[in-house]
Amino acid sequence: MTERTFSIIKPDGVRQGDTGKILARIEETGFKILGLRMVQMTSRHAEGFYAVHKERPFFGSLMEFMSSGPCVVMVLEKENAIEDLRKLMGATDPAKADDGTLRKDFATSIEANVIHGSDSPETAASEIPYFFTSLQIQD
Ligand code: CMP
Repeated sequence: MTERTFSIIKPDGVRQGDTGKILARIEETGFKILGLRMVQMTSRHAEGFYAVHKERPFFGSLMEFMSSGPCVVMVLEKENAIEDLRKLMGATDPAKADDGTLRKDFATSIEANVIHGSDSPETAASEIPYFFTSLQIQD
């Protein structure tokens, strides 16, 4: 079933100059890019996005990191998009990520892990409109 997911190339990925390489890997894996733009989040914006992690000890640091520079936000489409993007991303901690995954190849820490991807259809359905209006998504 064709499915949509939401993804962010985080500030570390953009800063490292890996945006193009990450986008190429996403396209080579069969994802169609339906929406794409750069955004620099404020910490308030990041707090809303990551509200489920509010009680985590790393929340403050994560907010600082996510607002430390521009990100690339995307809407991606593919069969089984949510699971397939998470496979391509690899484990949250790059030290535990499998070979051939984006986090293995580009991430430097559990926080600076270059990419975010929605973890369920419900999450995708709330994350996509957090950044994109329907007019900004090409179908
Ligand atoms: P993401 O998949 O975007 O979801 C939450 C983010 O919090 C995660 O990627 C990491 O960037 C960050 N994160 C998760 N666990 C930790 C941790 N133990 N310490 C610091 N940051 C973390």
